[in-house]
Amino acid sequence: MSTITELSKIAKDVRDGLTSSPRTLPSKYFYDDAGDKLFQSIMAMPEYYLTDCEFEIFQTQADNILNTIAPNKRPFNLIELGAGDGSKTRVLLRHFQEKGVDFTYCPVDISAGILEELKEEVLKELPDLNIELLAGDYFELLNQRIGKFEGRNVFLFLGSTIGNYNEERATRFLQKLRDGMREDDQLLMGVDLKKDPSVILKAYNDPHGITKEFNMNLLRRLNVEIGANFDERYWMHHPTYDPQSGEARSYLVSTKPQEVYIEALDETYSFEAWEEVHTEISKKYSLNQLEKLAQASGFDVAENFLDCKHYFVDTLWRPHKS
Ligand SMILES: C[S@@+](CC[C@H](N)C(=O)[O-])C[C@H]1O[C@@H](n2cnc3c(N)ncnc32)[C@H](O)[C@@H]1O
Repeated sequence: MSTITELSKIAKDVRDGLTSSPRTLPSKYFYDDAGDKLFQSIMAMPEYYLTDCEFEIFQTQADNILNTIAPNKRPFNLIELGAGDGSKTRVLLRHFQEKGVDFTYCPVDISAGILEELKEEVLKELPDLNIELLAGDYFELLNQRIGKFEGRNVFLFLGSTIGNYNEERATRFLQKLRDGMREDDQLLMGVDLKKDPSVILKAYNDPHGITKEFNMNLLRRLNVEIGANFDERYWMHHPTYDPQSGEARSYLVSTKPQEVYIEALDETYSFEAWEEVHTEISKKYSLNQLEKLAQASGFDVAENFLDCKHYFVDTLWRPHKS
């Protein structure tokens, strides 16, 4: 049997998730090349209102955003955590360039493939942009590099990626980010807000079956990368939304008693009929809850930029000065 030190990170994380109770699989592994493409299709679905809302905020309020983060046009690094294809960010980049702002764009993503695609698309439109790709896990960036950027930093954390963590993990993540920030650094974070629960649930349970494919792709990835033998025919995608916790959750449910062997671990896992494996959380907040999250993690809310339906907010936070 493999020892822990010989195991790849993905195998170790899968073992941790499948031996925990309740069982989980980490959502960061959604994003291989196929997962990146599926997520782009999710973003393009009308049911996934988050994309349109954040686009609208940037298209209509880019100037307010710029005047708030850089009133005196002082140069800054624009460090985007989990940038994905950067399609919405491009609206801001274009505006900042048009206004003659001096900045370097540093997108960070765990998927090197999506970063290359981002760079190609951005440079097609903005060939003079200063861009520095940072492929890797943003948790590692927070641990190792964050204090080493020269100059003033504006962090972007868009698309409600913060919602992929429960409140406790989100608070720890933001505290860590805060600890690495300088006094005049800032954070612009896109967060999905609480709203009609049926609108939320549809975004994770679309009639086209794309969110289902996204969830199932995790099993395909584990089959290829760590030699698992998940049989998709016996797993179903099950999304839920609980308005009390504000958590939309995706599960993979085993539709019969079954065993799955994972070669990289040389281990077999038994699943009961209708046993669930939790794969993703997308937490929704109210503006009051966000205010409390900011306080708990050492920030002050400087400004909230909302879409016209008040479905989504890009909230600008500054380190709290004691
Ligand atoms: C929900 S998508 C949002 C993408 C983009 N920010 C947007 O708004 O369209 C999350 C992105 O974060 C990346 N990601 C997830 N976990 C990560 C991690 N631990 N470190 C770096 N990137 C991560 C994924 O690859 C994916 O591109």
